[in-house]
Amino acid sequence: MPMRREVRILAPAKINLILRVLDRRPDGYHNLWSLMQTVGLEDELCFRLCPERAEIRLECNDPSLPTDGRNLVMRAAGLVMSRAALAVGLDIRIVKRIPISAGLGGGSSDAAATIAGLNRLLGLKWSIAEMAKLAQTLGSDVPFFFFAPTAQVRGRGEDVVPLRLTGDRWLVLVNPGFPIETRWAYDCLAAMRNRIPPLSEAIGRLSRKECISWDEVIPLLENDFESALASTHQVLGQMKAELIASGAEAALLSGSGATVFGIFRSEAAALSAQNVLRQAYGWWTCAAKANGQSWVSRESASFDPLRVG
Ligand code: C5P
Repeated sequence: MPMRREVRILAPAKINLILRVLDRRPDGYHNLWSLMQTVGLEDELCFRLCPERAEIRLECNDPSLPTDGRNLVMRAAGLVMSRAALAVGLDIRIVKRIPISAGLGGGSSDAAATIAGLNRLLGLKWSIAEMAKLAQTLGSDVPFFFFAPTAQVRGRGEDVVPLRLTGDRWLVLVNPGFPIETRWAYDCLAAMRNRIPPLSEAIGRLSRKECISWDEVIPLLENDFESALASTHQVLGQMKAELIASGAEAALLSGSGATVFGIFRSEAAALSAQNVLRQAYGWWTCAAKANGQSWVSRESASFDPLRVG
């Protein structure tokens, strides 16, 4: 079968419905217990074969992202090439919609999409398990995207068990417009706590299930970074309170922030909350179905990830 010349792929954002940070491991990382879910807010990636040269070129609509070896997409592409023992020319284009360093896994999702996209473009026929293993070396959140839309994530992030989440919910993502560096957030968490609370029995029960409902998950929402960041970033608590005041069933920080998400029963309720929060505070907002379509507030004063360079 001839190789395809071009592959396009959508890379979704993720949220952490549960994020427990456990003990520090000998490799410096922490063991985690997380319930992760993809969201209908997506970056777009396009991979094109350029047989006339042997180099990989990256273009991105967001000028704040480096397009050299510091970009996780370039590292993922380099890793695929060396693993496949290939040296073919590639043009990669990214349309960035997911806010950067926002706790939404945008860079990790782009890296996973690069492995999956090149697997298809180059006809490599790698299995999901092979791709997820390769993904581990790029970052803790990357393997999850091979088991989306919903999965339990354990260990450093490499132990991923998919599960089915039943029922429909809409999310409103709210970002205050500043990034939070993950490593710094882990340091804050380590500095503030003198003991690690054990995993709850409810999480223990959840980890044995193959299928759960939104109604079961909502009472279990928690994120260890919330209390770690509460005093340095008081706006996060305000964003959460405003989401609840706008009708969210529950609201929580995603990853190590600074995005907070609210959970809504209907599209209409989510869209209305999105408009209220954007107009009142100028925060970047996005109403999105859990694993579906999204409505990003392009007019947002403080954050515009949709600018085209
Ligand atoms: O793996 P990733 O590049 O996303 O991690 C960024 C930083 O977050 C790491 O350098 C580490 O400080 C921290 N981290 C951790 N334990 C994890 C994941 C991340 O301590 N499981």
